[in-house]
Amino acid sequence: MAQPQRGKDSRRGSGKPSEEDRGVSDAAGPLDRAAASALSVRQAFRGARVFLTGATGYLGSLVLEQVLRVCPEVDRVYVMSRGKKSASARDRVDRLLRLGLFHKLWNSPDVLAKVHVIEGDITRDGLNLSVEDSKEVLRSTTIFIHSAATVALDDHIQHALKNNYVATRNVLELCAHMTQLKAYLHVSTAFVGVAHDKGSTVLEKIYPLMDGDEVVDHQELAHELLRMPEDEAGVRCMMYLKRWKMANTYCLSKHLAEQLVASYHRKPFPVCIVRPSMIIGLAGAPYPGYLGNLAGGGGYTIAYALGFFEKSGHAWYPQSVIDVIPGDVASSVVLAAAASTLKGPLRARHLEGEPMIFHATSSTTYPATNYQTYLYAKRFFTKNPPPFCLLPFGYPDYPADYVPCPYRLWLAKSCTSMKVHALCYLMRLFGKAREAQRLYTGWKAWAYANSESHDFDLYFSCSNTKALDGALVEDERNDIRCLWTRQTGDWHRYSRTYMAGILKLFLRKNTKTDDHDFKFIAPKQGPLSRNP
Ligand SMILES: NC(=O)c1ccc[n+]([C@@H]2O[C@H](COP(=O)([O-])OP(=O)(O)OC[C@H]3O[C@@H](n4cnc5c(N)ncnc54)[C@H](OP(=O)(O)O)[C@@H]3O)[C@@H](O)[C@H]2O)c1
Repeated sequence: MAQPQRGKDSRRGSGKPSEEDRGVSDAAGPLDRAAASALSVRQAFRGARVFLTGATGYLGSLVLEQVLRVCPEVDRVYVMSRGKKSASARDRVDRLLRLGLFHKLWNSPDVLAKVHVIEGDITRDGLNLSVEDSKEVLRSTTIFIHSAATVALDDHIQHALKNNYVATRNVLELCAHMTQLKAYLHVSTAFVGVAHDKGSTVLEKIYPLMDGDEVVDHQELAHELLRMPEDEAGVRCMMYLKRWKMANTYCLSKHLAEQLVASYHRKPFPVCIVRPSMIIGLAGAPYPGYLGNLAGGGGYTIAYALGFFEKSGHAWYPQSVIDVIPGDVASSVVLAAAASTLKGPLRARHLEGEPMIFHATSSTTYPATNYQTYLYAKRFFTKNPPPFCLLPFGYPDYPADYVPCPYRLWLAKSCTSMKVHALCYLMRLFGKAREAQRLYTGWKAWAYANSESHDFDLYFSCSNTKALDGALVEDERNDIRCLWTRQTGDWHRYSRTYMAGILKLFLRKNTKTDDHDFKFIAPKQGPLSRNP
């Protein structure tokens, strides 16, 4: 496996273009300042060639759709995807474009033709691109958006590092050879900064890991964990997670990746980082209620709907703040942050000091609590029951003053575990092996996430994101919504839309009530028309 290198030294004397060559250093010049009265995402993406990783995943697919719909004058979007045994990269992206999420583009063959599929793998040197693809993207990419990652929370640390740290280095090394690159945007997670006391505020900055009063070098740490035998690395990692109060290997790997990204800032392209919290279904266009994966709060909501929560089965305090963010808000922040790195009033800030970090979060703009989300879910799934539920007598009460009790929680979790095992056994007997496997995987994920260590109760500051939102030109505000606030959103209505989406998209059940905005959009059958 390639070893992590020092970002600075690995690029010294490489003959790569300087800041001046790319027009980076003149950004804060008089012309730029004069033109920079407002931020137009459309203008920043006009004529751009965007390289996007992770488009077959949830957030990446939202970014792809939004770029094409909101910025149709983008020149090209290189969508990098892995081929799988069952389907080539091209087939996978074609299938993606036929999902209901993309329905607003189905009649725009000129826009769909801007998608250029590139086969690659971020864990490999040079992303394993073909020689031809590599030549093309190196000479023409202007904006790079890196969203691909493994989002499994408790992968073995070496797997997490390989996919989230080494892979990010591979991406950055490729970027360093891109002659036209003007902006690199890295998708991280708000939970890299969780080593805070409950109830405190996390700023949009990198909090370095410390050994006493010494700052830990991210490259040395990653190198150490990657070099060790697997079992030793696992044990060492557990020690580090405890020391730095990190919830899981995912957070540690994403934290180290942020440090790596920061080490590339302005050498020679400016980088910025977007940190979403838990990404949930869309609140608005193009498809209210759409949810692309169960990695964020979706898994939890399904677990609740299916009756995983026994009485005393909640590990989270009811009044703790839970930070979740609608997917369209998260992808808007990605687009606006990338645009502001390129053009507009914040560009000068992007080019000085540390890279800019943007939280795509809700806890400081329109906080929700665990209790509130529980009440919404209880009401909704009582009126709109899922196809089956592990609780024959309805959902148990979770009082507003509930205090999780470790031994009761253990009992409740064991009880659920027995029920899930029995149900899976029966399902397999009746030829439903695939569904049984899904249920089992869901239960494992829920059992893992339903722990006190995942009840963060943190407030994520949105100062930079507010500045981004404030800079947006007026006529793009409907399409680019960077903040979730009491003025722009409504948790109550949104929660019904989101749960109706989950019920239909993941449990194949229609809702009985219609007090929400979800309307199912079936995937397009047959080929898409894409002009050459
Ligand atoms: N979902 C959340 O709640 C959440 C919250 C905060 C931050 N984030 C961040 O948002 C980003 C996207 O997350 P997501 O929820 O969209 O995840 P996701 O649905 O699991 O998608 C992950 C994407 O990464 C791609 N990928 C993974 N390993 C790859 C490799 N070796 N080579 C090429 N592509 C690879 C996957 O491709 P395949 O389709 O080939 O597997 C997929 O397209 C991640 O950086 C994540 O850390 C997510």
